[in-house]
Amino acid sequence: MKKLCLLGLLVSLASQTALADTSAAAAHLKEKKAFVDHLLGQMTQDEKIGQLRLISIGPEMPREKIREEIAAGRIGGTFNSRTAPENRPMQDAAMRSRLKIPMFFAYDTIHGNRTIFPIGLGMASSWDMKAIATVGRTSAVEAAADSLDMTFAPMVDIARDPRWGRTSEGFGEDTYLTSKIGKVMVESFQGKSPAEHDSIMAIVKHFALYGAVEGGRDYNTVDMSLPKMYNDYLPPYRAAIDAGAGGVMVALNSINGVPATSNTWLMNDLLRKEWGFNGVTISDHGAIQELIRHGVARDGREAAKLAIKAGIDMSMNDTLYGEELPGLLKSGEVSQAELDQAVREVLGAKYDMGLFKDPYVRIGKPENDVPDYYADARLHRDAARDVARRGLVLLENRQQTLPLKKSGTIALVGPLADAPIDMMGSWAADGKPVHSVTVREGLRRAVGDKAKLVYAKGSNITGNQAMFDYLNFLNFDAPEIVNDPRPAAVLIDEAVKAARQSDVVVAVVGESRGMSHESSSRTTLEIPEVQRDLIKALKATGKPLVLVLMNGRPLSIGWEREQADAVLETWFSGTEGGNAIADVLFGDYNPSGKLPITFPRSVGQIPMYYNHMRIGRPFTPGKPGNYTSQYFEEANGPLYPFGYGLSYTEFSVSPLTLSSKTLKQGASLEASVTVKNTGKRDGETVVQLYVQDVAASMSRPVKELKNFQKIMLKAGEERVLTFRIGEDDLKFYNSQLKFAAEPGEFNVQVGLDSESVQQQSFELL
Ligand code: NOJ
Repeated sequence: MKKLCLLGLLVSLASQTALADTSAAAAHLKEKKAFVDHLLGQMTQDEKIGQLRLISIGPEMPREKIREEIAAGRIGGTFNSRTAPENRPMQDAAMRSRLKIPMFFAYDTIHGNRTIFPIGLGMASSWDMKAIATVGRTSAVEAAADSLDMTFAPMVDIARDPRWGRTSEGFGEDTYLTSKIGKVMVESFQGKSPAEHDSIMAIVKHFALYGAVEGGRDYNTVDMSLPKMYNDYLPPYRAAIDAGAGGVMVALNSINGVPATSNTWLMNDLLRKEWGFNGVTISDHGAIQELIRHGVARDGREAAKLAIKAGIDMSMNDTLYGEELPGLLKSGEVSQAELDQAVREVLGAKYDMGLFKDPYVRIGKPENDVPDYYADARLHRDAARDVARRGLVLLENRQQTLPLKKSGTIALVGPLADAPIDMMGSWAADGKPVHSVTVREGLRRAVGDKAKLVYAKGSNITGNQAMFDYLNFLNFDAPEIVNDPRPAAVLIDEAVKAARQSDVVVAVVGESRGMSHESSSRTTLEIPEVQRDLIKALKATGKPLVLVLMNGRPLSIGWEREQADAVLETWFSGTEGGNAIADVLFGDYNPSGKLPITFPRSVGQIPMYYNHMRIGRPFTPGKPGNYTSQYFEEANGPLYPFGYGLSYTEFSVSPLTLSSKTLKQGASLEASVTVKNTGKRDGETVVQLYVQDVAASMSRPVKELKNFQKIMLKAGEERVLTFRIGEDDLKFYNSQLKFAAEPGEFNVQVGLDSESVQQQSFELL
């Protein structure tokens, strides 16, 4: 009885807090609306248009001219300038403008700002929400300390075609995992509120479906059925928005023929009306102008008109809003109400970032400017190392090749073994290569004088001149990759010599970071040939061979894994990557990462993702046969499945038990397994729960991730893990886009990757 009363009290306290939260939110909205309406009432048409212009600040930009434009009220915000001494004069200019409307300063702080954390795929491989929150919070603290107010992140585009270079930036192929991470990123960027001095506003991108570009070719068109959109691709954006993301960046692609930037259904019907979003919407770079090339606008005037009518508030790298809106308003083609709505949302975002209260909330006072913005002491190295090692995935470990001993002689080879720029991955914000701990440096520090380390580059990234030129064209500041001019055979000979005098060989191979970047789509998923030649030569030495992979997409490494004794997937692991990799190679940290994306055997299998639809003639592993859905000249199925990753210890999962064989609507049941660490080392693993709808009103995926728990178990320890399954976990959008769970049988699977699972079933009544 007492217990019940206490519970009752807790429930009522919780609902009071919820009420307090809602009423505080309502009060905030009311105040904001009154403030914005009042300000809007004082603005001229030109000042309003000025607020919609977001300008990129580059080194070539005439600063004086920008400040004049700001003071005249013709710019609403900027991006790419990133320190207080750069941004303060611009805010000063805004304070000289007639209405003193503050500017905001944005930047692509994607996986760190100065301290660079692993790329999106690396973060996602950790399946560790605490680690991911560390990335978001540290990024926000660093960015805000450097005067930034807003980030163009998180990117939650589902990627199921690894040819797409931007696969690296996202969190993989899965809707549930990406949604969880998107939410955590938004919450950790924005902290208590985006108005805090150490928070930045999150702009979720790229709305929508950018990861589904046809053929994996960047900027290509997207064609998709509505159920697929609603079930698989849209939920991560929604999760980020529900978590409070202040804004949305609009995708560059078209959706079923209509560019996102002129897509009234997407921006108004879905985003604003259906989802209730009332933050700011920002076009991607030059996207409004691109409406002409998409073939939906005759000229710039029509492009600007389409965009503002579709609900694009801010024009990134604008020319057209500034040039065309005055004429469009004069002729009545764009209404005053349409303009005001866009301006309201921009002012609202500035209000939410706390800029009206204090335009210098993040810029601070000149006397507090730091003498060296790039000082090493400003980095968060411990956090970066911790997150980086959680995102490393052990793919192979034959005869316990790993962990290595800190003794004897170790040959370290490969074009990525000592590559500071590549450690950071693409979109490395204001990270500096000089701060990167490379694999060479990490190993050197780890072994000290206990073991001898012999280094040889062994090969260049690529032997293809056109590819080399392309990769270097991508970086404006410095050469992205530097070729060793010696012939390939000479480089290999040197590496083989190093291998012969060593007890073990560690080869760091894969992609340079520019190979997995915006506009870097590939037609193959292979490691470039010169590097494969190196691997072949190393294998021929007969020495144990450890492959350390650096790459921003799944690679088809069927041949490579046969050559190697161990394979460690490290993605691009950030500023502290070299130390993190050394921690795992030497066993100072027991790897616990799991793949957030399927590794296909070859590019021809794409798209390949674990939660594909059920079909009438499925391929059955082990039972090849005619007239089943297969590729006949290659083994089917993935090279490594979604959710896969090894540890230095072993785990067993008991048969699955369900608390009930039936589930009433609105109720829930429990699925339990006992997970045991059967090996000799303490270790973490990710226990994953999948659900399959056995027979529904439409074909449903073979399975879908619905929950997971990352747990640490001591050697020999076992633990009962319980997952609650409710009706919500079974809901989907049917062919009429009705979101509901359909009564009938469901399979539940629990396991340590998406393929090796225990199964039970129950019936939804
Ligand atoms: C273009 C990219 O598509 C987008 O992701 C990025 O945020 C903007 N440029 C700004 O740098």
